[in-house]
Amino acid sequence: MGEHSEAVETLRWNNGRLEMIDQRVLPARFEYLAYTDAAEMAEGIRSMVVRGAPAIGVAAAYGVALEAIKWRSTSSGEFSRKLTLACEVLAASRPTAVNLFWALKRMQGVWEQHASRPVVEIADALLAEAHEVLAEDIRINRRMGAHGAALLKDGARVLTHCNAGALATAGHGTALGVIRSAVEAGKKISVIADETRPFLQGARLTAWEMVQEKIPVTLITDNMSGYLMSQGEVDAVVVGTDRVAANGDVVNKIGTYMVAVLSKRHGIPFYVACPLSTIDLSIPEGAAIPIEERPASEVTGFRDCQWAAQGVAIRNPAFDVTPAELVTALITEKGLVNQPNRQKIAALFNS
Ligand code: MRU
Repeated sequence: MGEHSEAVETLRWNNGRLEMIDQRVLPARFEYLAYTDAAEMAEGIRSMVVRGAPAIGVAAAYGVALEAIKWRSTSSGEFSRKLTLACEVLAASRPTAVNLFWALKRMQGVWEQHASRPVVEIADALLAEAHEVLAEDIRINRRMGAHGAALLKDGARVLTHCNAGALATAGHGTALGVIRSAVEAGKKISVIADETRPFLQGARLTAWEMVQEKIPVTLITDNMSGYLMSQGEVDAVVVGTDRVAANGDVVNKIGTYMVAVLSKRHGIPFYVACPLSTIDLSIPEGAAIPIEERPASEVTGFRDCQWAAQGVAIRNPAFDVTPAELVTALITEKGLVNQPNRQKIAALFNS
C-alpha cells in the first residue's frame, strides 16, 4: 500500500481545509469535520476529535499552516503576532503527547528559516511542511512496522491497549502498524483489544480498525487481561506511547502500567512502538512528564448516560508511567532498543 493510499485517512487536506475523522463518534458514525484555523484545530485536539500522539502532532502542524494561510495577505508584523498566538493556543490544547510540541517546534523552525521572505511565501512553506509531517509519519510507521513485525511469531495473539492505529497517526499506526505489517508479511495474527476506559479507544477505535481490515480481534474489558495472561492466551503485548523520557520510561494511556506489570509477572514480552518524535530527551525520567487530568464526566458516565453516584469524588488521569525496566523493547523507525535505558536511547539519536 503506498503512502497516499492508506485505508483510513485520519487527516486529509481538502480544498484549503484540513479534514479530520471525528473520533468521538466512531464507530456509530464515520464523518469528517473541517478545520480552517489554529483555534479550531486546538479545540479539535482538546475535545479529542483527533487523538493519539502522532496524529496530534500532524494536526498541530496543520493548525499552524492554516493560521499562516488565513493571514497571508497581512503585514509581516501582524502575521508574526497571529502565528505566535496560534502556537500558544495549540500548545495549550493537550499536555502529555510530546509530538504536539515537537510539531510546533518544527513549524517554528520553518518559519524562522523563511523569516526574511514575503508573508505569502512563508505561508506556502508552512503548508508544504505540514504536508511533509503527514507523509513522513506514514513512512515512519511503515518502517517501525517492518522492525516490529519480525518480533511476532506466526499465530501470535497480541494484546494492545488504547488505540495506536491508523486513527492515532497519519496512517498505518504504530502498535497496530506492527500488527498490520506482520499480517502483510503473511503471518496469522489475532488481536486482543483492551476496552480502555474511560474514553473507550480500544472498544470503539482499535476494534473498528481491525474489523474493517478483517484482522481477527477480541474485545475485553480492562480488568480481564490478567486472567487471559494467566491462562496462556497472550503471546505478546504491543502498545504505543505519548512520550518516552530520556531514561526509557514510557508514558501511555492510563492502564498501560497495569498491563506492563502483568506482562512481567507472566513472562510475556511487552513492546512499545515509538517513533523518535515521541522521545523527549529533555525529560530525564517518566515522573517528570505532565499527565493530563481529564473531565470527571468521562468517568461518571459516557455520553448521555451517567451511572456514578452524584457527589462522588473523581480522578481521571489520562495517562500513566511504565518504568523502562518493564519494557522488553522500544520499536523505533531506526530499529529496536532492547531493554531501553538512558545510554541506549542517547545512542539511538547519535547513530
Ligand atoms: O488520549 P489519547 O487517545 O490521545 O491517547 C492515545 C494513546 O495513549 C496512544 O496509545 C498513544 O498516543 C500512541 S498513538 C500511536
